Amino acid sequence: MKTAEQIDLLEELLGLRRDRSAFLDEAVERSPVKRYDDPAVFTAERDQIFRATPLAVAHISELAEDGAFLSRDVAGAPIILTRGRDGVIHGFYNFCRHRGARLVDADQGCRHRFTCPYHAWTWDNQGHLIGVPHQAQGFPDLNKPAYGLKRVNVAVRFGWVWVQLDGEMDIDAFLAPVADDLAWLGMERHVVFASDEKPWKVNWKIIAEGGLESYHFRVAHAQTVGGLFHDNLSSYQLRGPHIRSILVRNTIDELVEKPRDQWRIREHKNILYSLFPNISLLVQSDHIAVVLSSPTAADETAIRILTMVPETDATADRSEWWARNHGFTLKTLNEDFVIGEAIQANLAHGVNDELTFGRFEGALHAFNGVVDARLT
Ligand code: FES
Ligand SMILES: [Fe+2]
Repeated sequence: MKTAEQIDLLEELLGLRRDRSAFLDEAVERSPVKRYDDPAVFTAERDQIFRATPLAVAHISELAEDGAFLSRDVAGAPIILTRGRDGVIHGFYNFCRHRGARLVDADQGCRHRFTCPYHAWTWDNQGHLIGVPHQAQGFPDLNKPAYGLKRVNVAVRFGWVWVQLDGEMDIDAFLAPVADDLAWLGMERHVVFASDEKPWKVNWKIIAEGGLESYHFRVAHAQTVGGLFHDNLSSYQLRGPHIRSILVRNTIDELVEKPRDQWRIREHKNILYSLFPNISLLVQSDHIAVVLSSPTAADETAIRILTMVPETDATADRSEWWARNHGFTLKTLNEDFVIGEAIQANLAHGVNDELTFGRFEGALHAFNGVVDARLT
């Protein structure tokens, strides 16, 4: 991010702080609870959003080795990602082309060939069928090239592997509104220090909404980050379908004494990129915490939390510091997810017809506007 833009963002929030105000939208908004617990809404979102949008599913450092592979569920479909002999990252449905068994059970590993556990048809890691037992007798005219693994659209940008199941993937147009910022972050020069995954009984949009306001920090995070931030002081900007939020740490007050050209945003703020629909990059002063959410049902979301550190800083003497940060991130986010699960459980009682977003919770309404615009 250019220094001038950093200064503008800092000044805007210093101004709000001086005026004892918050970043306010025009109106209070309401969100129908049907959005969060109706299976028909979930199916529409899976088909029209999650299958039809580029999703970040892995970091390139997780596929760095020749022959590395990962298996993932993407919008409910089992997918394998491989680093082929050609050095390129490939994506395939994790289905055998013979009679449809699941080809790979392991979550990750290193293999140059994949052999089906049912009748041992075998493919190389670029998806070519290379072995069929008793082929001459059983499949005399088999056109092997036509039995390659079924491909999914894959692209590598800004350190992430993106997958889109349906339609043409125009990854550059999709990321254009945040491309300068993603280049500035340099995530391709980071590595995954640690990651944890867990299913939570909560709708994916409740998780997303929890990351888009700072109104709850002092209350819900009183035991963790609450005291590090000014109360209810944050701003947001819609960038295409993505949202960039700026959250202000208490240390911003020191800036008043400092020459402006020395202001550096990462030292005083957390920047949160909510890349539509499923990835949040929580940018901190020396590392980036990433939340990847994969909805599995209207009321369930698998959440993966990664601590990404610059590769030059992924050294043994720093590992205790990164481990402490990772633990703190998990503890803080668990506070959000436990509350999210309670909200989800309460929706089922049908007491609230809608949730209410205050004027300083405008990013939540903006986010739901993006979701609605993609549903026909
Ligand atoms: S189902 Fe895979 S080899 Fe038969
Ligand atoms: Fe939170």
